[in-house]
Amino acid sequence: MAEPKKTATLSFGNTSIELPILTPTAGPDVIDIRKLYGEGEVFTYDPGFTSTAACDSAITYIDGDLGELLYRGYPIEQLADKSHHLEVCFLLLYGELPNAAQMEDFERRVTRHTMVHEQIHNFFRGFRRDSHPMATMVGVVGALSAFYHDSLDISDPWHREVAAIRMIAKLPTIAAMAYKYSIGQPFVYPRNSLDYASNFLHMCFAVPCEDYVVQPALAKAMDRIMMLHADHEQNASTSTVRLAGSSGANPFACIAAGIACLWGPAHGGANQACLEMLREIGTVDRIPEYIKRAKDKNDPFRLMGFGHRVYKNFDPRAKVMKESADEVLDLLGVHNNETLKVAKELERIALQDDYFVEKKLYPNVDFYSGIILEAMGFPTSMFTPIFAVSRTIGWISQWKEMIGDPTQKIGRPRQLYIGQPRRDYVGVDHR
Ligand code: ACO
Repeated sequence: MAEPKKTATLSFGNTSIELPILTPTAGPDVIDIRKLYGEGEVFTYDPGFTSTAACDSAITYIDGDLGELLYRGYPIEQLADKSHHLEVCFLLLYGELPNAAQMEDFERRVTRHTMVHEQIHNFFRGFRRDSHPMATMVGVVGALSAFYHDSLDISDPWHREVAAIRMIAKLPTIAAMAYKYSIGQPFVYPRNSLDYASNFLHMCFAVPCEDYVVQPALAKAMDRIMMLHADHEQNASTSTVRLAGSSGANPFACIAAGIACLWGPAHGGANQACLEMLREIGTVDRIPEYIKRAKDKNDPFRLMGFGHRVYKNFDPRAKVMKESADEVLDLLGVHNNETLKVAKELERIALQDDYFVEKKLYPNVDFYSGIILEAMGFPTSMFTPIFAVSRTIGWISQWKEMIGDPTQKIGRPRQLYIGQPRRDYVGVDHR
């Protein structure tokens, strides 16, 4: 990071503190407040981190006003068009696009780790069949640390590398197993002759009693969904992974924490909630009723798949996803899909409505992804697990970046205490 050239002065009471202003390679300047408490004995207050950078990072850049998303500097539209998920994994993890030999080596290393320890099959069997696959994934991914003792030493770069490769390789296997378990079918072992996305579809949809051939166009659509979700800088689940990792927790435990956070409906759970909402709306004529509800302050209903903390013009991922939805439905011969019709009309109406325009609410990546996944044959309960599989590379890259940073400290936010001041204990007889 460049030496600060500018400063900001903060004055309160008789105190005046000069704070360095840090200049990033892109995006707004950042006031460095690290010495604020030491010199001024005050904290800053920023619930939800709306104005606070919690770390520096060289992985992903978002310009919310321009609707721009860059992985290591490369625009998401170019990657979605020309790259593939495993190449994006290499890019996010190591910082540069691989040459042909590096790509081959990376692919070989990932595919050699796709199986899970056989004992994990027994571990799965402890869950109820009707468990949500996300619940199963949180448990199984957390439990990986009980199976892979040779990649737990976070101070050893080789352990960190092996843990990263294991996670990229095994998350699709675990998500597919969670799905198979929930529908009472046998687990399907990974096939290393298949590419990353095809292998995932095969593990989800193949059965031992007949051949299953993955349609290349569907594998391409799945690969694109994975790329679009691969990283998104310091979002809630990534920040959770970083915070968990800042204590020195092992990488499998950190990714399990990220999966738990992702499950929430305001984050990764939105794709499931969005499709359920589109189905509930059902027909185009009912859209105004739901728009009205979304605008009503006394109604907790929100248009799922709409709005984003950072994007205030459009979500570039939503644009690519909308094109993919059309392609996939065309390919599968799904014409006159009522849910897609509702989605497109809802988008059109909301984008002209003053409430949504004023609040800069646009469709996010989750608005169209559910339609694609449903057309592929996935139940809604698998939407968020697929997001988790895709985001694993972002989590592990951000975790690796943090652990490799010599200035890294345990994350420990402060608070604005609003409870009782000190008071004396009163015995039960006197309460
Ligand atoms: N429908 C209706 N109103 C909304 C919506 C929505 N989807 N999103 C935000 N608003 C309104 C809020 O009510 C609020 O109104 P107010 O200023 O009158 O109080 C205003 O817009 C700002 O909303 P906040 O919740 O303060 O914005 P924030 O940046 O905290 O939230 C979030 C972003 C959580 C994504 C929100 O837009 C939302 O809940 N969207 C629906 C869920 C969703 O699609 N999540 C997926 C996010 S993308 C992802 O995780 C991959």
